[in-house]
Order: sequence, then structure tokens, then C-alpha cells
Amino acid sequence: MPGIDVRHYDHHQAAELRPLLLDVYAEVYAAEAKNDPFASVERFGAGLDGWSRREGWTCVVGYDGDQAVGYAYGAPLPPKAPWWGGLLTAVPADVVEETGTRTYALSELMVRTPWRKTGTARQLHDALLAARTEERATLLVDQNHPKVWALYESWGWQTLGDLRPRIQDAPLFHAMLLELPGR
Ligand SMILES: CC(C)(COP(=O)(O)OP(=O)(O)OC[C@H]1O[C@@H](n2cnc3c(N)ncnc32)[C@H](O)[C@@H]1OP(=O)(O)O)[C@@H](O)C(=O)NCCC(=O)NCCS
Repeated sequence: MPGIDVRHYDHHQAAELRPLLLDVYAEVYAAEAKNDPFASVERFGAGLDGWSRREGWTCVVGYDGDQAVGYAYGAPLPPKAPWWGGLLTAVPADVVEETGTRTYALSELMVRTPWRKTGTARQLHDALLAARTEERATLLVDQNHPKVWALYESWGWQTLGDLRPRIQDAPLFHAMLLELPGR
């Protein structure tokens, strides 16, 4: 859909953006939020606050006119990042060694239904990552969502292994990595 306007935000705007981010989440994840405690809007809000409190948090929101149609956000992983704590696949130690500037974690990407299959999701993903200086990005995709996993693979992401975050009710994820061109 032409005409999606992508705006960039950082953690200074997190409080102001929060209601919008929660509204879009509640709509996109309405079915899951009803049945799955891991997907409740409250849990999501707490997770959002944890991410957006970080200095390095960045977010892009897509707008069609004045309507928010979807967003993506993330932050760089700190040294000894808990992110890798739930990795179940054995990998060489240096693969999960973080410096604070090595890896950008793409925490969320979601698009409201009318704007799916329009390139909007890819546009948000690319806009968020194009602004990064890290050498790579990582994301987690639920293993019950093989089509989303395939979508990320088609965007160039590679699968590192299985990961279950050490958080109550967390599902099993594929941990993925994407090399970033850097500056
Ligand atoms: C993921 C997303 C941003 C991709 O948008 P897109 O590039 O326009 O691609 P689509 O919406 O067509 O999704 C690709 C396929 O994955 C499926 N899919 C998307 N999200 C899914 C989910 N949460 N659970 C199960 N399947 C899902 C779609 O149904 C589609 O399958 P189809 O080709 O058979 O129709 C969008 O589907 C979305 O917002 N999904 C809900 C939130 C989500 O799951 N985010 C990813 C977290 S890792």
C-alpha cells in the first residue's frame, strides 16, 4: 500500500507512545490475549516497559494518514544479555557473546490486518534496522508459527537454534540472526 509514513522514535518518547502501542497490540493479538497468559495485554505492557526503559530502545510506527497501522521496536543487547539465557541449542560461546554494541534485538513487529500483505511489515522492519550500527540483529519467532518463521527466512534471517526464555509460560522459539550492513 503506497503512502505509509514511517516515523522513528526513541526511549524519550516511550511514555507518550505507550497507549498507541498497547492499543495496536490488543487488536493484533486479541485472540491470543484471551487464551494465553503469556500474551495478555498486561504482560505485554510490562514487557514493553522493560524494553522501552532502556536508553537504546528504538521504535518505528507506520501511519496511513493519521492511523497507526503497525510498528516494530527493539534495543541493543547488553553484555551478558539474559536474551541468550534460554538458548537450548549448543553453539560456540563467542556466538552469544555481547558487548552492548554487537547485536540489536528486534523485540516486536506487528501490523494491523488491513495492512498485511502490503509490504508494510517489511517496510517497518527495514526502517527500524536501517538506522542501526550493530553488526547483527536477533529475533525470536514462536515455533507454533511456521509461516512467520518462513517469512523471516525469506527476508534473509538465519536460524540459530531453539530458545525458551526463562520467563513463566514462555513458548518455544526459533532464535534467529540477521547480519546488518552497519555504517
Ligand atoms: C508478522 C507480520 C508483521 C507479517 O506481516 P506480512 O509481511 O504482511 O505477512 P502476513 O501477514 O501475510 O504473514 C505471513 C504468513 O504468516 C501467517 N501469520 C502471521 N502472523 C501469524 C501469527 N501470529 N500466528 C500464526 N500465523 C501467522 C499469516 O497468516 C501468513 O500466512 P498466509 O501466507 O498463509 O496467509 C503480521 O502477520 C503480523 O502482524 N502478525 C501478528 C503479529 C506477529 O505474529 N508478529 C511476529 C512476531 S515474531
